[in-house]
Amino acid sequence: MSQLIPLTEEQREVQTLARDFATAEIAPHAARWDREACFPVGVARRMGELGFLGMLIPERYDGLGLDTTSYLLALEEIAAADASAAVLMSVHNSLPTQMLLAFGNDEQKERFLRPMARGELIGAFALSEPDAGSDASALRCQATRDGDDWVLNGTKSWVSSGSFADVIMVMARTDTPDARRRSKGISAFIVTPDLPGFHVGKKEDKMGLRASPTVQLNFDGLRVPAENLLGEEGQGFVYAMRSLDNGRMGIAAQALGIGRAALDAALDYAAERKQFGQPIREFQAIQFKLADMASRLASARAMLHLTAAAKDRGESTTLYGSMSKLLASETAMYVTTEAVQIFGGYGYVKDYPVEKYFRDAKITEIYEGTSEIQRIVIARELYANR
Ligand code: CAA
Repeated sequence: MSQLIPLTEEQREVQTLARDFATAEIAPHAARWDREACFPVGVARRMGELGFLGMLIPERYDGLGLDTTSYLLALEEIAAADASAAVLMSVHNSLPTQMLLAFGNDEQKERFLRPMARGELIGAFALSEPDAGSDASALRCQATRDGDDWVLNGTKSWVSSGSFADVIMVMARTDTPDARRRSKGISAFIVTPDLPGFHVGKKEDKMGLRASPTVQLNFDGLRVPAENLLGEEGQGFVYAMRSLDNGRMGIAAQALGIGRAALDAALDYAAERKQFGQPIREFQAIQFKLADMASRLASARAMLHLTAAAKDRGESTTLYGSMSKLLASETAMYVTTEAVQIFGGYGYVKDYPVEKYFRDAKITEIYEGTSEIQRIVIARELYANR
């Protein structure tokens, strides 16, 4: 399908590079990684070598310094091959590196951002906890100052890439139990797995995105040097929310990639599969499904790319980023559900890829803010902008 929003030559080149890499080095292995629930760290390193882990980081910090549209085009290509590879890329590019870029000091940028831009260090983001998901500012992980260190105790959950990440951006409370300050009592810390008291806990046994390791992190007197506090004490929640504005656009691109792969598979299958003496694409019931799938994908992609352009003009993307994620993730779920239906029984088994797309699509309606949270953000923005 042709691209509705016009692309520059550079954007097309990035898209082609990502498509070629994804087709040759990711897609052939995605089913096995899903079956084995394992993502080879070597593939992440390869993504780093090609620049996919430093796309939004300026060249002065060894990144590619690309515009947001180029990044999202590349992410869609990776996601069309494997959603697990895409979440690694999205979290790394959108959350910890953007927080370091926006709020890190020079020393933190040298130590962490520069090697992350080259893909030598892989990043993760730890906001959620077992009892603080949608209500993120209710988190309880406690950081207490002790000399030149902060000492962290608590459990972070749902940490994508958490078992092999080299740099984890951790949000923890720096207020005290007798003077809680909700979101104002949260600070951001740069945590590395070599610090004493860092433990990787339970690995989640997920429905989809099975190759991406989603883990709990347990901090048992984790000693974080004071120089690893990011920005200002008490600003960690706002930093996290600002980075999620970027993250949600990345998840929208991931959802579009999954949906597009499902549409492509359904188009091929409907042309090959014969019932009642003709390919099933000849039936209007199937044509209507394919038309709706393609239309919804095109509309979600247009909204995302217009939002990306707004971000590159320096405008806030809280409203349209949430709309883009909401629209793209619900579209991915719709499209993958229809793809399974077009495949019939073959859509329900692992011999064909749409069963995986269906499982992978579901998480895009849940993480980096559920669809319900996106609707809350959108409604709040509507009132704030009146
Ligand atoms: N940009 C800048 N600041 C923001 C902001 C944004 N987008 N959103 C909120 N803030 C600021 C507010 O202005 C406020 O600051 P002030 O007090 O100075 O005004 C402060 O943050 C607190 O905001 P709220 O009062 O709105 O906070 P709240 O407790 O009502 O929560 C929420 C708002 C939107 C519901 C928020 O909790 C939320 O987004 N929840 C979902 C959490 C989420 O997305 N988690 C995903 C985790 S990452 C993940 O999924 C794993 C992975 O690895 C992929």
